[in-house]
Amino acid sequence: MLQSVEAQPLPGRALPQSGIEDLCSHYFGLGIEVKLRRDGKVFQPSKAGLAFGEYLLSNVTIEEKMGDILEIGTGSGALAILLAIAGARNVVATDINQHIIDVARANYGIAQRDFRSLQGGRSPHLRFLVSNLFDSRDLENRRFDLIFFNPPGWRTPDDPELFRTICEDSYYSMFEGDQTVTRFLQQVGRYLKPNGRVLIGLNSIVGIQSVIAAYKEWEAKHALWEFDFTIRQKNAIELMLYNDHWKKNGDLIRNQLLLWKQRGLSHFSHHNDHSEWFYEITEIQNIT
Ligand SMILES: C[S@@+](CC[C@H](N)C(=O)[O-])C[C@H]1O[C@@H](n2cnc3c(N)ncnc32)[C@H](O)[C@@H]1O
Repeated sequence: MLQSVEAQPLPGRALPQSGIEDLCSHYFGLGIEVKLRRDGKVFQPSKAGLAFGEYLLSNVTIEEKMGDILEIGTGSGALAILLAIAGARNVVATDINQHIIDVARANYGIAQRDFRSLQGGRSPHLRFLVSNLFDSRDLENRRFDLIFFNPPGWRTPDDPELFRTICEDSYYSMFEGDQTVTRFLQQVGRYLKPNGRVLIGLNSIVGIQSVIAAYKEWEAKHALWEFDFTIRQKNAIELMLYNDHWKKNGDLIRNQLLLWKQRGLSHFSHHNDHSEWFYEITEIQNIT
């Protein structure tokens, strides 16, 4: 049986209080430690997000850093800030509501203080936007060399209302990932430059094959392009019930997970009382 469920916000390393700022920090490599405000309404990097950040740091090309990069669903802003510090010149980062974007912008302010000397004093252009996927008018007619997304990783629950109550502010950061990823795939092709690529972190709980199948059915009818999906990195991550609210509703959450598994939609494994899911960093390219 499942011992515990999911992986989500990590506590991060607590920093001594400085003034009124309550910060946690995440080290990605290359000497880059990103400090972020703690905020219960904003998704903090999870083990998956950290793996994605490390992947970006070692795989984003010089051409992409010199070009145009878009992050969808930036949350705390950690990954967009990481790329800006690592030399990306033009990054746009979006999320679905104003509060999240305000916090991400404030986190970038903290990074600018810490990394003023990076990029030879040249300031990267990192812009934050409120946007439901690509619906911001500021994204109209824009094309990017790289678009990346660490999307909500869990499927739509059988009883969404119940899970909305249990998870409160984290619901839309974590659930309905199947619908969000399918919509993302249907739209992203219009925002890619001809040789651009997409990197997306797919959670094996989201129902990867069912999401790709739903997209491919849409693609055959409506798209002017054809996408190829290639897995670039597969990370096993322990399932955790990450806060008291979740622990209190552990049976319900376990039950939902097992139902998805029985239906062949979600994949996770058990070894010695531990359950693991897989975080699959996947590259998508237009092969038409
Ligand atoms: C798993 S969190 C990832 C946050 C951050 N990028 C990270 O890696 O730590 C998913 C993020 O996607 C955002 N999101 C969910 N649906 C969205 C949508 N339709 N448009 C834009 N952002 C969305 C959530 O608000 C949340 O911040």
